Amino acid sequence: MTHARRNFLKLFGSSIGIVTAEILSPAQQRARVKPATTTRKILVAHRGASSYAPEHTLEAYSLALKQNADYVEQDLQITRDGVLVCLHDLTLERTTNIKEVFPTRFKEELVDGKTVRQWNVSDFTLKEIKQLDAGSWFDVKFKAARVPTFQEAINLVRGKAGLYPETKAPEVYGERGFDMERLLLDALRKNRLDNSRAARHTPVIIQSFSPDSLRKLSGTLKTKLPLVLLVGEENRTRWLTADGLAEAKQFANGIAPAKALLDKNLVEQAHALGLTVTPYTFRSRNTGRFQTVNQEMSYYLYDLGVDALFTDNPDLFPRVAIK
Ligand code: G3P
Ligand code: CA
Repeated sequence: MTHARRNFLKLFGSSIGIVTAEILSPAQQRARVKPATTTRKILVAHRGASSYAPEHTLEAYSLALKQNADYVEQDLQITRDGVLVCLHDLTLERTTNIKEVFPTRFKEELVDGKTVRQWNVSDFTLKEIKQLDAGSWFDVKFKAARVPTFQEAINLVRGKAGLYPETKAPEVYGERGFDMERLLLDALRKNRLDNSRAARHTPVIIQSFSPDSLRKLSGTLKTKLPLVLLVGEENRTRWLTADGLAEAKQFANGIAPAKALLDKNLVEQAHALGLTVTPYTFRSRNTGRFQTVNQEMSYYLYDLGVDALFTDNPDLFPRVAIK
């Protein structure tokens, strides 16, 4: 087993029966807190502290660090000139003012039987994207926020927390002539974040909904970094079965299902195979049958026994069970 994967298991391994934890997470190092030897739960800031600041901006990432995130998530897209940027959507219109700045540069696409105008990230250079206001849609006080490059995210987060990049729609980018997995690994290598020493101060976990992307990362590109398979409702029956989990174990270190898809039995099955479990997404504006997001996160972490979770509210992550 590689050192990077061993570190991953030390950080995540408590609830899958593997002894933790001489390795401190970045948040623990900052706080100089000795880790628990049994139940160390991991906080992943989803798109940054995105309940409080516009998602995937340096402002949201900075706040996540202040709120003691163990990892900060980056969804990755690729610009026309081949630069990795952090943005959830393949298009710019939801979270920037692209319609005002480049009103005619859209493409018309048929979505659910309707023609819609879309401004694809990959149709714009980084220089053009940097002109966009990525904060006002959330609150005008963030009007100076910009779409960050992955490099800017690394510069901000490294040494303070881990990075949790997601290869978003890598097949679509492949059709457009880009190789997202290579760009990602090149960036990590250039920043010396793909080796065992880096995992001690800036651990990196790569996630994807695409099993082919993870297979390529571990197989063709031979990364030693931990890999996590995202599972949504649409592919629940493909992966969240005994056979599916066993297959996922061939190319991933963990699964990250939508929270509604999880129960205790599934968590135990995954753990029995040595897979970590990291559900998404916990947010204060949508807590389902729970009164608060603290209670909801506590239930998943300490009753169902998941190892980690993605949340828009890092400040509300329960480090101990809420009774
Ligand atoms: O990556 C975890 C979670 O973010 C998956 O959903 O759509 O927010 O990327 P999405
Ligand atoms: Ca994501």
